[in-house]
Amino acid sequence: MHKRGLGLIIVALWAGHALADSDQAAGADIYAANCAVCHGDGLRNPGTSFDLKDLKNGERARFDTSVLEGKGQMPPWRGSLSPSDMDALWAYIRANSYD
Ligand code: HEC
Repeated sequence: MHKRGLGLIIVALWAGHALADSDQAAGADIYAANCAVCHGDGLRNPGTSFDLKDLKNGERARFDTSVLEGKGQMPPWRGSLSPSDMDALWAYIRANSYD
């Protein structure tokens, strides 16, 4: 009984620590479902669209505008992606960017 209680505390602490990574994980799923078809599996640019790993830390506004309004062959995502989806996508892209 005692042992089990301690285990739960450890799991709870670990989960708190991992919270910052959960956006990234959610972003990876959203990316795989919506973006990978054109931007490549796991952000590996197929050379036919735009390499999302090129986006810089200061380009969040550009990211939001392009994704929500659409650009060139890319459809607009306004209405299909929520603000938290956008945050998660951005966290995932930033975690894998070149800079
Ligand atoms: C139907 C194919 C397609 C899908 C699906 C797609 N994109 Fe794109 N995306 C493109 C193409 C093509 C471009 C290059 C547009 C241009 O510059 O003409 C682009 C460009 C971009 C850019 C750069 C725009 C800029 O500012 O230059 C971002 C950011 C982006 N896509 C994010 C995403 C995200 C996030 C998703 C998933 C929610 C996604 N795209 C889904 C085709 C797609």
